[in-house]
Amino acid sequence: MGARFEFKLLGPLEVCAGGCPVPIRAAKQRVVLASLLVDAGRVVAVDQLITRLWDNAVPDGAQGTLRSYVMRLRQALYTTATTGPIVTCAEGYCIDLSGHALDLNRFETLVRQARTATAQGRSDRASALLSDALVLWRSEPLSNVPSDVLRREVLPRLGEQWLLARELRIDAALDVGRHQEMTAELGELTTRHPLRERFWAQRMLALYRSGRQAEALDSYRSLSTLLAGDLGINPSPELRSLHHAILTNDPCLRLTFPDRRAELFGIDGSVPPTDPDVARTTTATSKVSDTAGVGKMNGRALLDSARRRETDWRITQDLGLLERERELQALDALIMAACLGSGQLVRVEAAAGVGKTRLLAAARALARRAGMRVLAARGSELEREFAYGVVRQLFELVLASADRAERDDLLAGAARQVAVLFDQVDAPGSSGDISFALLHGLFLLTANLAEGPLMLVIDDLHWSDGPSLRFLAYLMPRLEGLPLLVVVALRPAEPAVDQHLLAQVTTDPQARMLRPAPLSAAASAQLVRTVLARRAEDAFCLACHTATAGNPLLLRELIEAAAAEGLEATSAGVARLHEIGPQAVQRRVALRLARLGSPAAVFCGALAILGDNATLTHVAALAGLAPAEALQTARLLVDIEVVHQNPRSPREPTSTATISFVHPLIRAAVYEGLAEAVRLDGHARAARLLADSRPECGVDHRLDCPVM
Ligand SMILES: Nc1ncnc2c1ncn2[C@@H]1O[C@H](COP(=O)(O)OP(=O)(O)OP(=O)(O)O)[C@@H](O)[C@H]1O
Ligand SMILES: [Mg+2]
Repeated sequence: MGARFEFKLLGPLEVCAGGCPVPIRAAKQRVVLASLLVDAGRVVAVDQLITRLWDNAVPDGAQGTLRSYVMRLRQALYTTATTGPIVTCAEGYCIDLSGHALDLNRFETLVRQARTATAQGRSDRASALLSDALVLWRSEPLSNVPSDVLRREVLPRLGEQWLLARELRIDAALDVGRHQEMTAELGELTTRHPLRERFWAQRMLALYRSGRQAEALDSYRSLSTLLAGDLGINPSPELRSLHHAILTNDPCLRLTFPDRRAELFGIDGSVPPTDPDVARTTTATSKVSDTAGVGKMNGRALLDSARRRETDWRITQDLGLLERERELQALDALIMAACLGSGQLVRVEAAAGVGKTRLLAAARALARRAGMRVLAARGSELEREFAYGVVRQLFELVLASADRAERDDLLAGAARQVAVLFDQVDAPGSSGDISFALLHGLFLLTANLAEGPLMLVIDDLHWSDGPSLRFLAYLMPRLEGLPLLVVVALRPAEPAVDQHLLAQVTTDPQARMLRPAPLSAAASAQLVRTVLARRAEDAFCLACHTATAGNPLLLRELIEAAAAEGLEATSAGVARLHEIGPQAVQRRVALRLARLGSPAAVFCGALAILGDNATLTHVAALAGLAPAEALQTARLLVDIEVVHQNPRSPREPTSTATISFVHPLIRAAVYEGLAEAVRLDGHARAARLLADSRPECGVDHRLDCPVM
């Protein structure tokens, strides 16, 4: 077998063998070779070759001259009639490209593959394939082949193929959200090819999605004027509908990403909803998607700048979330940035019950709507000693539900290292092996999964196991460039299994922070009126808000307790609300304090007896704690937002600070949780303590039982 030739038509005709150029110096030989290449695999008749060589000026003895051109061409290629690739046939000549390459064939193959990828919803892949295809075009085809006949026959077809490939590539780029970078290219294309309506349509869409609606409409006007002036016709019906859709902000124009929900069926279940609201959230969101026309678009989800205008209020309402517009807007922007390849970590930080899990559920809904794959996990207090527990939750379902080929793809190369983590319960990695190879393997698995937009959601990160934290710390500096958004939620200052590692993940300068706040009095009233009674009186709503300081969890517990009692939501019901409130949250508060250990529990007990604004010295004395231990405990309780110093301040408490519970309801719950004897004894000792320091306080104290 002779050399493997690479023939190139998409620019000046060139031939290479083994990477070295093979010059074809004679112009007529280039005409013959180009003629055979454009019809590769087919016989090109002698007459046709003669016309391509000489057009109407065919010389005498043209057939003989053609034969000598072919012979010299074979010599230039260091080949013969028997070694190929130029084969002599009865009616003419043929070039057999078996074992050789032609750029035009490669181009056509890549475009075909891109069409398949598009049909499968893999626009990102289609875009890459089309870029590879277009790179093969070096300049105008056959520019060094002097045959007008051949150029007339071939160039229009090739030109059309090139334009189609560009249209497809722009479609694919628009599909994956690259509208902004396409606007300049489309401006140039519509100038160079003003009658090609597809480019105008793409330009209008790209401008619209880039938030340049006026310019999109202006493009349409330019085209209309051009068509009316040059041809006396109107734009096509498709363009007219697009124009109308842009004018009316039609949701069908929104950017869509492939919806991989079906592929990933069940993955999201890795974090079961903590409350019925979360389950409702998911259903509500899919309904929103359908009404927005997503169903029509084959399950593709919405994402574009125009959408953000309406997302905030709609999703907040649909998800039953109150006062989270700012957070949702930030999440939406981060999702969009991630979809465009700008990976990030966002941490949601707030005290217990403020709504971190709920916000994560909304983030997941937004991500699914944007066509992201969502994998979720949750740190568990009881499981944090199990190495890689969180990592396994994140990935094991996706690997288990993948077929063999997908699994091989996901675990390609060094990512194979981590298969062992998911294959065996008792895998070597389970012992806490945090070798570089394993961390890097997990990173590669993540990167493979992030071939399309991906969201990793980890709730209660403070309870994550150490090796999973180490993996996140490893992932942080490698996020850039991946279409990956990592969303974590944690309670600030909740003691973690490895505080240093947790800080490394959460305090990374690249990480964004969202701090949902407790609900305002107005939002608390809205919740009371939605859940309990539409006509709840202002005084009742305000009492609920004051008792809970707007903490949604406490608020819900209080409302549910009121509902169970059949309480009238009137000012007359307020007194009873004060009685039932502490019981409603007592179990939860007791559980939290028990977890914090003995000093915290006795500290809170003492503070509940002394009442708000107690000095740290008094609390320490009543709790029987040494001053240093009391100070340390106070700091912990401030960090986790059980108590605060007066006035409320982000600074750490000092030994001279006075302390209060953050919600009257918590004080009442702690108080209710104390045994009767402890309470009585506590009050007696507190009275003596206060009398010793300020005689008038001791008398007052006996009256100071907690009232919410
Ligand atoms: N913005 C909100 N509007 C209405 N209800 C909310 C809001 N945020 C949270 N809730 C409700 O408050 C309760 C507690 O929320 P959630 O479980 O998300 O809190 P959390 O911060 O995750 O608490 P924890 O630290 O204990 O995990 C849930 O019933 C939730 O539905
Ligand atoms: Mg939570």
